[in-house]
Amino acid sequence: MFRSSTLDTPDQASGTPCHVAIIMDGNGRWAKQRLMPRVFGHKKGVEALRQAVKACDTLGVKYLTVFAFSSENWRRPADEVSFLMGLFLRVLQSEVDRMHENDIRLKIIGDRSHFAPELVQWIESAESRTANNTGVTLSIAADYGGRWDVIQATQAMLKARPELATNGFDEADLAPHLAMAYAPEPDLFIRTGGERRISNFLLWQLAYAELYFTDMLWPDFDHDALAAAVTWFQGRERRFGRISEQLHPQSAAS
Ligand code: IPE
Ligand code: IPE
Ligand code: MG
Repeated sequence: MFRSSTLDTPDQASGTPCHVAIIMDGNGRWAKQRLMPRVFGHKKGVEALRQAVKACDTLGVKYLTVFAFSSENWRRPADEVSFLMGLFLRVLQSEVDRMHENDIRLKIIGDRSHFAPELVQWIESAESRTANNTGVTLSIAADYGGRWDVIQATQAMLKARPELATNGFDEADLAPHLAMAYAPEPDLFIRTGGERRISNFLLWQLAYAELYFTDMLWPDFDHDALAAAVTWFQGRERRFGRISEQLHPQSAAS
C-alpha cells in the first residue's frame, strides 16, 4: 500500500513529483481559434498527450494520469461524444504497440458500463498486454467521475466485507477499492485551458496535491510546459498539516 497524505506524512525526499494528474482542457477553443471544428482540437490533443508521456519519462515522473472524458461529458452534443469514443478506440488500436515498446503500463479508470463492447475489449487487452511494464504508468480516466469513484469503492468494499456496514469503516478500509489503488496519490495536479476547477476529477486522491493552473490550451502543452510545472512544484513547501519549522528544524533553532 502507498502512504496516505491524511493518515501519514508522505516522504518528500525527491523534488520530482512521482505522480502528475492532468485535466487536458482547451481542445475545443484551440480548434475554434483556427476556425476549425472542435474535433480537430481533440485530434491535436492526442499528440500533446504523446509528448506528455515522453516528457514524464525524461523528467522521472513515474505515474501520469489524464482526464480524457468525464462522467459529465456525456452531456455534450451527440456527434462530439461519438467522435471522442471513436478517437479513444482508434488511439488504443494504433498506440498500444508503441507504448508497449516504450515500457509504458497502461491503465484505464472509470465506469466501463456505457462503452461499446469493442472498446471494452480493446481496453482489457491493452491493460493486460502492458501490465508487467515497469516504465511510466499512464492512466487514462474515461467516463470517470470523482464521486462515481467514491461510490463504486464503497460498494465494492461492502461487497467484500459486509460486516463493515454495521461495524463502521475508515479511510484505510476504503482506499484499496478506489480506482487508483495501484498508484500513490498525485503530487502535482495540472489543469490547462484557463479554468480553475476540479470538474469532478480525482476528488479523493487530490487531497494534498499541489494545484497548478495554466491558460495554455492542451494542444499547445509540450515538454517545456510540463517541465515548467515541475519546476513550480519544486518550489512549493508541502507541509501536510504541519508548520514550516517542523520541516526545517535547523533553521528554526538558529
Ligand atoms: C478537453 O477539451 C477535452 C475533453 C473534455 C474531451 P474541451 O473539449 O473541453 O475544450 P474546450 O474547453 O471546449 O476548449
Ligand atoms: C474536464 O473538462 C474533463 C476533461 C478534460 C476530460 P471539461 O471542459 O468538460 O470541464 P468543465 O465542464 O468545463 O468544467
Ligand atoms: Mg473544456
